Amino acid sequence: MKTLSNLFENNRLWAQKIIAAEPNFFQRLAAQQSPRYLWIGCSDSRVPANEIVGLMPGELFVHRNVANVVVHTDLNCLSVLQYAVDVLSVKHVIVCGHYGCGGVKAALDDGKLGLIDNWLRHVQDVRDEHRGRLDPTDPARSLDRLCELNVVEQALHVCETTVIRDAWARGQSVSVHSWIYRLEDGRLRDLRFTVESTTQVAETHRAAIAAIACG
Ligand code: CO
Repeated sequence: MKTLSNLFENNRLWAQKIIAAEPNFFQRLAAQQSPRYLWIGCSDSRVPANEIVGLMPGELFVHRNVANVVVHTDLNCLSVLQYAVDVLSVKHVIVCGHYGCGGVKAALDDGKLGLIDNWLRHVQDVRDEHRGRLDPTDPARSLDRLCELNVVEQALHVCETTVIRDAWARGQSVSVHSWIYRLEDGRLRDLRFTVESTTQVAETHRAAIAAIACG
């Protein structure tokens, strides 16, 4: 099992199944990718981007990290965003978090997990900013709320990047979305921070945060 032959066998069957449905599928994809969507999600193995939105290879450009964080100095995330918007011309950037996120839970609880605590400090900034919206006597509810707040705040960060601001300034059509996925039922929910121009950002953000507080 050192060579993980089971995974190679899975791969062979997967490719075979796709070719059975469309013989030229891989040749077509190899020639060009033109995804309409960029997905920024959590690395969690239970939230596989393509599968949960029913998209095939070639249809979704993906960046994942622990707790779907968008930081203005993260060259990895920014490069993905810039390439997706400027070169691939994606029409939608989806920031998708999930309930029960281990990263968000560690941030909420001041967990001590090692190096990653520094990364999760960004989620703790969200926690501290919205302290008044979290109920310390109800940890489960607080975790749900922080998972939601984190998505909206990270989607806001996407809107604040030079990549998106410049795209909007030159009239390029690209929308930013904030979604959350529930592990227990496999369903997505729109957190209604959906923005397609600079002028919509502040008011849409305010309304989305207010809606979460009441939820
Ligand atoms: Co997670």
